Amino acid sequence: MISSVYIHIPFCSNICTYCNFTKFFYDKSRVSSYLDALENEIIKRYQKEEIKTLYIGGGTPSSLQLEELQKLFQIIKKFKLASNCEFTIEVNPESLTEEKIKLFKENKVNRISMGVESTNPKFLKYLGREHDFQLVKEKIDLLKKYQFKNINVDLIYALENETIKDLEKDIDNLLSLDVPHISTYSLIIEEHTKLHILKAKNIDEDLDYEMYKLITKKLNSHGYKHYEISNFSKPFYESKHNLVYWNNDYYYGFGLSAASYIPNKRLLNTSSFRKYLNQEYIEEIEELRDNDILSYALILGFRKIDGINKKDFYDKYKVDILSLYNIKELIKEKKLINTTSHIKVSYDKIYVENDILINFVGE
Ligand SMILES: C[S@@+](CC[C@H](N)C(=O)[O-])C[C@H]1O[C@@H](n2cnc3c(N)ncnc32)[C@H](O)[C@@H]1O
Ligand code: SF4
Repeated sequence: MISSVYIHIPFCSNICTYCNFTKFFYDKSRVSSYLDALENEIIKRYQKEEIKTLYIGGGTPSSLQLEELQKLFQIIKKFKLASNCEFTIEVNPESLTEEKIKLFKENKVNRISMGVESTNPKFLKYLGREHDFQLVKEKIDLLKKYQFKNINVDLIYALENETIKDLEKDIDNLLSLDVPHISTYSLIIEEHTKLHILKAKNIDEDLDYEMYKLITKKLNSHGYKHYEISNFSKPFYESKHNLVYWNNDYYYGFGLSAASYIPNKRLLNTSSFRKYLNQEYIEEIEELRDNDILSYALILGFRKIDGINKKDFYDKYKVDILSLYNIKELIKEKKLINTTSHIKVSYDKIYVENDILINFVGE
């Protein structure tokens, strides 16, 4: 049963130096034709299932103007939302206004994810962001004024010339916002980005590891549970939507370059604006054999710090997780830990977790 939806809004009012997501400069006429195409895709593909998590990401959904957001919420009315549906929207500090916050509230949005990325003016400039930390504080206060409690902020660290002290200041600033969810990402210098063209450098690996340890230590000691490689939350504020991905559960992805996982298939939408408007939505279909499904379940499930619940795994896939791949060996080597209920990656190996996950890539 599919009960989650991701919607991609590929517009931004400013293009950041590190970003290789599918996005375009905001353009009024393109937004209008995109929303029409999005509505068509949803009409064609959505089968009226009840939706428990809905996530509007991008791009920058908040870069849309008020009347365009109204149109988007009109489209979203097509979904049968569960009464306790977790409904997230991604925002940028500079494009979020009081009117948009009110509109979010009226339309049952109950979780906000804000790209803060850094709180240091020098690094914000390096990342090509247009806000400052003062603006972040004002917009978080405004969200709280309208009773938005479930807020995430994103941080990027490991920037060229960044020191441990710089990072410490960023974390302290984020902690001062008093929001229940923080995501932290080590900078990836992606191809086709301005940083790549300008030959930006990665920081030293040892420093990256020190930074990772500082983040986990500081956030853990302030009551944030490290529940996924890059994600920390106060109790009960884990992202239900993202847990759908890590639990290998089904979801629809609508919009440009959105991914879907539906029974026995993973789909990838086109990233061509022209094809999308032409209703040629799906670009790639991966037909999944039983082995592929198990491989995804392990690779995604071990991203969670608590790991995979053995009983749930058996109930879902009718196979004992201990019998798969070289799991028993990895337990002997203490790379995986076998508790009474779960199998998880040893906490001191989370940083190099990819070396373990490679064991589960199917042929
Ligand atoms: C779709 S973006 C967030 C939404 C919004 N467009 C924004 O930038 O504020 C998701 C997050 O991924 C992270 N991210 C994007 N590109 C990255 C990169 N090259 N390296 C590390 N983290 C990255 C950023 O923290 C970003 O906020
Ligand atoms: S990081 Fe966010 S705001 Fe910046 S270009 Fe990418 S999607 Fe747009």
